[in-house]
Amino acid sequence: MVFCSLLNQSTDSGGGELSILRGENRENHTWISANEYLKKKLVPFNKHAKILIDMNDLEQYFRKNDKRLIDKWVHYFDIYDRHFSRFRGREITILEIGVYQGGSLQMWKEYFGAKAKIYGIDINPQCKMLEEENITIFTGSQSDRTFLRNLKQTLPKIDILIDDGGHTMQQQIVSFEELFSHVSDGGVYLCEDLHTSYWLKDGGGHKRAGTFIEYSKNFIDALNAHHSEQKRLQVSDFTSSVDSIHYYDSMLVIEKKKRGKPYTEKTGSPSFPDVQPHRSRISRAAYKLSRNGIKIINQVLRFFRIRSFIWK
Ligand SMILES: C[S@@+](CC[C@H](N)C(=O)[O-])C[C@H]1O[C@@H](n2cnc3c(N)ncnc32)[C@H](O)[C@@H]1O
Repeated sequence: MVFCSLLNQSTDSGGGELSILRGENRENHTWISANEYLKKKLVPFNKHAKILIDMNDLEQYFRKNDKRLIDKWVHYFDIYDRHFSRFRGREITILEIGVYQGGSLQMWKEYFGAKAKIYGIDINPQCKMLEEENITIFTGSQSDRTFLRNLKQTLPKIDILIDDGGHTMQQQIVSFEELFSHVSDGGVYLCEDLHTSYWLKDGGGHKRAGTFIEYSKNFIDALNAHHSEQKRLQVSDFTSSVDSIHYYDSMLVIEKKKRGKPYTEKTGSPSFPDVQPHRSRISRAAYKLSRNGIKIINQVLRFFRIRSFIWK
């Protein structure tokens, strides 16, 4: 469905042009469907109208929401839809850490359909009263390892896990450590509001030890561990179970998929013989050094984490 917005007169500096909104300034708009808009002829179409053609079903739900309160950053909707749409209509298990007023759980229920089982965790015991058909809520803290371990005994494997809880470093890290292994093969682990990794009040700071952002940077190494030549970076469960890692503003999405050692293949026929590219004098001299010699130099440099000796 196409949605239109009615800009407040005071904020409309558009001067009569019909334009397409792609994500910006959405919060200043009142949303109605395009049909409704045209039928009611609320304002001349070419004056205050802006048409949003790229609003996905989740954001449409959010804009029209008159059920329980939802608290989300608006740019998250595109990210959710990109990673979640393949699960729609399927028999899946979803766990969201952070229930708040229950609105997001209702949104997932609507988006994923009647076959989805939705679970929520919140430290606030009042959230329990927000349970309804296909929505089950557990009371406890996401940084309580015992609570999370017991939860794993109760829940089937999770297809989609959304961490929208307290957003402190410890909470995000403990939840990941305890629950990541319980996400199914093919499933998604999503941690949001990572901007707290830069906020003092949550224990954040740029490149500060212990932030979730710094912690998660190690995932990039783990993903590539098959190519490691160092003992301290070995293939781990993470390496063998993760297909891809996606960073967005304030959000990390990890897509799981069992995989083995990667390999290359060649297909097709060559266009010309494989030849050495032209090399400079310095390159040629460097090339004369034995490969083992270069390797030893680079091993020493690597030990001190100094930039490598490049001869190309
Ligand atoms: C940002 S709100 C969740 C918003 C909700 N997902 C939504 O989209 O509407 C954060 C929630 O996390 C809960 N929370 C805070 N610390 C927590 C903890 N240690 N364990 C579990 N939940 C926690 C809060 O009680 C609050 O309800």
